Amino acid sequence: MAATLGLPPGVLNDTAVVSFNDPEALEHALSAGDVACFIVEPVMENIGLCLPADGYLQAVREITRRYGTLLLFDEVKTGITASWHGAAARYGVVPDLLAVGKSIGGGLPLGAFGGSEECMDAITTGKVLHVGTFNGNPLCMAAARAVLEEICTPEETARVIERNGRFVADCQALLAARDMPAHAVQCGAKGCVTWSDAPVRNYRDYLATDFDLAFAQWIWGVNRGVLLPPGLDEQWLLSVAHTEADIARALEVLSGFLDALEDPSRVEEL
Ligand SMILES: Cc1ncc(COP(=O)(O)O)c(C=O)c1O
Repeated sequence: MAATLGLPPGVLNDTAVVSFNDPEALEHALSAGDVACFIVEPVMENIGLCLPADGYLQAVREITRRYGTLLLFDEVKTGITASWHGAAARYGVVPDLLAVGKSIGGGLPLGAFGGSEECMDAITTGKVLHVGTFNGNPLCMAAARAVLEEICTPEETARVIERNGRFVADCQALLAARDMPAHAVQCGAKGCVTWSDAPVRNYRDYLATDFDLAFAQWIWGVNRGVLLPPGLDEQWLLSVAHTEADIARALEVLSGFLDALEDPSRVEEL
C-alpha cells in the first residue's frame, strides 16, 4: 500500500516490501533474481528502536549477494549515533551503498552517501548524473568536518555511548522495579522506552505497543522540562553536551511518571 499520495503506479509496481528481521521473506522476494537493490535501516529507528535479531544483517548480506541484489543501508538516523563507523561497523556487515544524514551535520542540513568503488564509479565516470543545488554546500561541509574531527571524535562518541548505556540500564531498572509492561532499548547513543513486554522485531510488533502510555510519558516529560522527540516513533539521542545532571533529571522524571501510574492519587504531588 502506498504510504503517501503522489506515487505513480510504476513506482509501486517496482517496489516490494519485506518485513524486518525476516530473512525467509527477503529470500522469497529476491529469489527471481530481478531485484536491483534492498534498502534497509540496519536498526529501524522510526518505530522506536527495533534492533536486528542476531545474525539477521549477516543473513541479509549473504542473501543479497547470492541473488545479485545491491544492499543499501539507510543510516540516516543511525550513522555516528550507532558507532563512529555507523551501524554497519557496529554489526560487522558491509553494505554496497550507505546513506547518512542528520548527526553528521551537527544540526545543519546534510545528507551524504557512499559505497563500493564499483557503485560510486557510476557517478565518477559520469554515467549517472548527480548534480544539485546543495551538493557539497561549503557551510554544511565545514560543519560535518568539525563534527567528525573535533566534536564527535571516536573517543567522545564511545564515551557518550557508554554513558547512554548506563542511562538506559537505569531506565530499565526503574521499569523492572515497578513491573511495568515496558522495557528500555539502546542503540549506541540513542535509546527509548518501549511500552510492551516483548521486544519490537518489526513494524507489526510496534503497532501492538501501548501508544497511550507512550504519549502519557512524553507529555509528562514535556511538563517537567524533559523534551523527548514529539513523534512517539522516535528515540532520544544523548549528545556530547548532555551532563550527568541532565541524565539524573530525566531519570527522576521517569521515576515520577511510573509512581503516578502506580498510584494516580499522587499525581499532584509528583
Ligand atoms: C530512516 C530515514 N531515512 C531517510 C530519511 C530521509 O532523509 P532525507 O531527508 O535526507 O531524504 C529519513 C527522514 O528523515 C529517515 O528517518
